[in-house]
This record gives sequence, structure tokens and C-alpha cells, in this order.
Amino acid sequence: METIKIGLLGLGTVGGGTATVLLRNVEEIARRTGCKIVVDMAAALEPDRARELGLTEARVTANAEEVVNDDACQVIVELIGGYEPARTLVLQAIANGKHVVTANKALIAMYGQEIFKAAQEKKVIVAYEAAVAGGIPIIKTIREGLSANKIQWVAGIINGTGNFILTEMRDRGRDFDEVLKEAQALGYAEADPTFDIEGIDAAHKLTILASISFGIPLQFDACYTEGISKVKQEDVAYAGELGYRIKHLGIARYSGDGIEMRVHPTLIPEKRLIANVDGVMNAVLVMADAAGPTLYYGAGAGDEPTASAVIADIIHVVRGCRLGSSSENSIPALGFQEDSISCMPILPMAEIKTSYYLRMLAADRPGVMADVTAILGHAGISIEAMLQKDPVDEQQAQIIILTHRIKEQQMDQAIKEIEALDSITGEVTRIRMEPLG
Ligand code: HSE
Repeated sequence: METIKIGLLGLGTVGGGTATVLLRNVEEIARRTGCKIVVDMAAALEPDRARELGLTEARVTANAEEVVNDDACQVIVELIGGYEPARTLVLQAIANGKHVVTANKALIAMYGQEIFKAAQEKKVIVAYEAAVAGGIPIIKTIREGLSANKIQWVAGIINGTGNFILTEMRDRGRDFDEVLKEAQALGYAEADPTFDIEGIDAAHKLTILASISFGIPLQFDACYTEGISKVKQEDVAYAGELGYRIKHLGIARYSGDGIEMRVHPTLIPEKRLIANVDGVMNAVLVMADAAGPTLYYGAGAGDEPTASAVIADIIHVVRGCRLGSSSENSIPALGFQEDSISCMPILPMAEIKTSYYLRMLAADRPGVMADVTAILGHAGISIEAMLQKDPVDEQQAQIIILTHRIKEQQMDQAIKEIEALDSITGEVTRIRMEPLG
């Protein structure tokens, strides 16, 4: 049986999972590919790690460049993460004519264009299934399974750490920092956990989803990014009372005038399946013209779920090599022909239309509610529901308002006017709402 030699860059959480699953399932994978896939060389900061993982035959180095420049390694698997040195190593591997598999969402979201162009020129494959939603094969699903469709929108819970924190806040009233520490200990959180809680990780993934859904260039900088660090326990509770759950969503939508690409906390009706995706699990809901809505659910982080996606890509590359196919006749990197990538604009947030949850601290006296609703009325903002909570003290009460859909710039103006009222203390909390129907 033919042996395919791979070079593994990184033996951390995902690298370790990849080595473990490759070794455990070597025979099953051989039945699927017709070859034996072996880790021939690995780059790791701690050389003992390879032995601990059972990679007894692999050559181990602390210098990742040695792996990408090694003649024997046919496929380079980049599991280091981050922008550099990952970008340089991947480009070097491509220049050396090697296929690349990566789990690096930051790299693809930021430098995907450059990397795919280099790969096309060298006729090698760059595969990145593990970059989005860990064990859920969402890249294959959108690029291949849904390729007959015009995709209308995609909405996903694509950061496990954030979802874990929001779930624990809702179900157990746990402290934000304590839950984050647990996510770090479990290997879910990014090396820099602000990437999780400030939405950057989700924005990397959404950038990729938007490109493969609509055939647009990767534009990470154009993605609106808001994290969960300002979501308060009381908002989670009030949303629940009103029949909603707060989820940290990535939303990409074709709206006629352009593409919306936004990551932010979002109220969604609790009856939606996606509203019930809890803990570290991820889910992606895709609305497509022919298939209608389809929902994909699974573990979005962790060693073996992510390894599942990495190894599926290795298998894809190996099958392609065995058939003698190159990048020319394989699936285009973004799922659309290179000359069909469209330059549809990404809409600024001021232009997007959505509904809103507003919470404000108001003086508990006659006429205050009328002032607030008058401002909303003048701005053309229709109210869906209203809730006045027990007084915070003798003089003040929380007012919660749900609105119908309105352009963000109109809501910005209305909030400015509400905050200027004498009867309102502090800032108005605003969380966007999506029916996802
Ligand atoms: N930090 C990421 C998450 C890991 O929590 O989802 C998977 O990309």
C-alpha cells in the first residue's frame, strides 16, 4: 500500500488530536483512501510531546521551516495558529510544491487571497475545513453540498468559548471570568482569549463563511465585530422573560444592496433550534433558495472534533493526489471560479436593518415612558413589546423595549436622543434581534 508522508506543524491541542486520531484510525482511513497516511515529521516546541502522542517513528524538530522544506513530506499540516510565522511557513510550503491543510481561521480570513493565489500558481491545494466550526463540515457543505443554491443568509454560533460563557451565565448565573478560565483549561479558548470574547475569532470565521457563501473576496477588516463582554446577567434574564435567548452570532446576508457581515450578541426567539445550542457547541444555519433552511450542529472546538476536520482535508488532498488531480480541476478555494468572485459591497452597519432590544434606567415618574416612545415614534421605530421592571431604587426603574425592524442609523439617532433626556441615567443598552425565520 502506498504511504503518504505528512509534516505536522504544531503539536498543541489540535496537533495532538490530529496525531491521536490519525494513529487510532489508520486502518479505517486507509480503507477510505487506499493509502497509509503517516506523520513523517513534526515541529513541536517540546520534543517529548511527539513520543507522548505515540508518534514514535516521526522525526521531530523545534524548527518548523525544516518541515516545510523537507523533501519527503508531501502534505504540510499547519496547526500553529495566528498570522505569523504561519503565513510565511504556508507560503514556503506552497512554493515548495506541497499541498497544505490548515485549521488557521485568522490566516485564511486575513491572508487567504494571497495564499490561494500562490497555491493556484503552484497547482497545489490549500484546504481549511477546520478553520470554521471545528468538527462541523460546514466548508464542504457550503462549497459542495449546497453548490446548486443561491445562498441568502448564514447565521452561526461559531465561537464555542463565547457560547459556553453565555450558557453558563444564563443557566447557572456563573461569573464571566470563572467560565472563561474553565474554557481555557479545556483547550477551547484562543491563545489570546480576547479573540473569543471580543468576537475576533467569530469574525475570522464569518469572513470565510461569507466568502464561500456569496463568492466575494475575504474581507476581514470589513466585518463588524462586537463581543460579549458587555452582555449583563440582567439582559440574559430579561431576554428570557420575553421569550428570547442571547447568542453571539455571526451573520452574513445578501440584502440586494450588498452584503451584511456582522458579529454581535443577538436576541433570537427561544423556539428556534439554534437558540438551544448550548455550551461549547457550535451551529450554523444556512438559508438557501432551493434547499431552504438547513442547520448544522456539532463541537466547534477541542482536540478531536477539530482533528476530524483536519484529517478530512488530508484525505481530500490524498484522494486528489492519487487521482492525479491538481488545484486546476479540484474545488475552487472559495467555492466559486476565480474570475467570478464578485465585488459586491459590504454594507456599513448604519445601512443594515434589524430589530432591537433596548434597556434603559429611567426616572420612575409620570411622562417618562411617553417621552421615550415619542422619540421612537418620530424616528419611525415601531415597538413590539415593553417591560418595566421593579424599581432599582425608589426613584428609578429599568425599561426594556423590543422594536420592529429599522435601519441602524435611525436607531443610533433615537438612542442619542433618549440618552439626552433628563429622566434617563447612563447609556441605553442595545442588543440586535434576529427572527431567523
Ligand atoms: N476559540 C475557538 C472557540 C476555538 O472557542 O470556538 C475554535 O476555533
